[in-house]
Amino acid sequence: MMKSEGKRRTRRSWAEPYKIKVVERLNIKTREQRETAIAAAGFNTFLLPSEDVYIDLLTDSGANAMSDRQWAGMMLGDESYAGSDNYYHLEAAVRQYYGFSHMIPTHQGRGAEHILSQLLIKPGDSVPGNMYFTTTRLHQELAGGTFVDVICDEAHVSESDTPFKGNVDLDKLARLIDDVGVSRIPYFCLHATVNMSGGQPIAMANVREVSALCRKHGIKLFLDATRAVENSYFIKLREPEFEHKTIAQILLEMCSLCDGCTMSGKKDCLVNIGGFLALNDDDLAERARNLVVVFEGLHTYGGMAGRDMEAMARGIEESVSFEHMQARIGQVEYLGQSIAEAGVPIVRPIGGHGVFVDAKKFLPHIKQEQFPAQALAAALYVDSGVRAMERGAVSAGRDPKTGENRPSRLELLRLTLPRRVYTQAHMDVTAESVIDLWDKRHLIHGLKFTYEPKMLRFFQARFAPVGAAQVLDDVGASTSDVKQRLGSLVGGGAD
Ligand code: F0G
Repeated sequence: MMKSEGKRRTRRSWAEPYKIKVVERLNIKTREQRETAIAAAGFNTFLLPSEDVYIDLLTDSGANAMSDRQWAGMMLGDESYAGSDNYYHLEAAVRQYYGFSHMIPTHQGRGAEHILSQLLIKPGDSVPGNMYFTTTRLHQELAGGTFVDVICDEAHVSESDTPFKGNVDLDKLARLIDDVGVSRIPYFCLHATVNMSGGQPIAMANVREVSALCRKHGIKLFLDATRAVENSYFIKLREPEFEHKTIAQILLEMCSLCDGCTMSGKKDCLVNIGGFLALNDDDLAERARNLVVVFEGLHTYGGMAGRDMEAMARGIEESVSFEHMQARIGQVEYLGQSIAEAGVPIVRPIGGHGVFVDAKKFLPHIKQEQFPAQALAAALYVDSGVRAMERGAVSAGRDPKTGENRPSRLELLRLTLPRRVYTQAHMDVTAESVIDLWDKRHLIHGLKFTYEPKMLRFFQARFAPVGAAQVLDDVGASTSDVKQRLGSLVGGGAD
């Protein structure tokens, strides 16, 4: 044996805590087909048929892979209209892991946000929160409220790498209470993690402080628990007090500081559809059950099939496993590191559900009014068939009162990872494409609206390129036309 071989290796890797039982074929379209597809989709990745997508990093929402235990549970769906077995299983899982006494199912997260907003917000109210989320804020506004952002300043700065960029700035909250008075603040909406700042977590110390301040003033505290398990994992890693606590213990403690939660089950709960509103107050729960019948379905299914409730009950149990979270967050970290090592500017620290590329820094030659993150998403798709999405000026939308575009300091491309779906090799292909684009970034052009929906515009808006390629407002343009113009959008290949 050679001497060097006697030296012990100290590196120990982790691997996915599962093996693959069923596979789904991926479509790989040619560059020319992708150029045609993105033009037909109005340069909005939301409007691409999934058949045209190779690696789908649009969202982590509803795109998760279920386990064999969850699929087995699907066969145990009790599809009775009222009082399905699976409803009771889900209620028990929510009580056990989230700790709230009442669980009202909804078809997905925004269903729960709608019910909560309608129940608590009166016209003229202010609803503080740690950064807006698109659907959450819209439901607050539709109920007559105004969202007020009281997140810490660092959350808006992509390069700031403080460990808990989701934290609330308590001075901002105290100032709001002074300004409008507690009677105009129906509840605080606390996100864990914060989607729009890059999947950044909030510290338990901060949740405790927010909770204490809210309780002192009699303001209800509602958690957006959509990714609270991921947040709990970050607390375990980054807050020394919690190093030896389980993820389940941390999650329960966080929820115990709140009065209830809204949940999009399509993320942490490891399912493809579903959500719930959970709370402790008996009267409020009664009113919520009344309202859910109007908008979602009977209070024992709320828009979900029995089988979906069973899959979610089982998914919740799986989601709090340390090995699951280590692989989940580890994969995001792996993709983020691969991209950052090549010098591509990304949001620091790397977040929970995706890697967020700083498109302002990536494309400094494109003004924010020409939507650099949206342009980057289109260019990435053309380059490799990887579908990402914009989180910046388009997502921010317009102020409903003034009609002006809302300012967005962050202008991000989100590479979102569905849970348990892709492998490390998919991450490599994605990173290589992002890095390739970085090398030819000067060839990417901005976009302008050709159609702008009134609400949640990012989902359905259509765009055309501006700049050297000039405007592509005729989506019916011939393929060679499209090719030529896209050639200058992403450079190379098409010209
Ligand atoms: N809250 C957060 C923090 C979310 O990220 C989402 C959805 C919702 C609420 C709404 O839940 O979609 O089930 O109605 N986020 C998805 C995303 C759409 O891609 O970020 P939903």
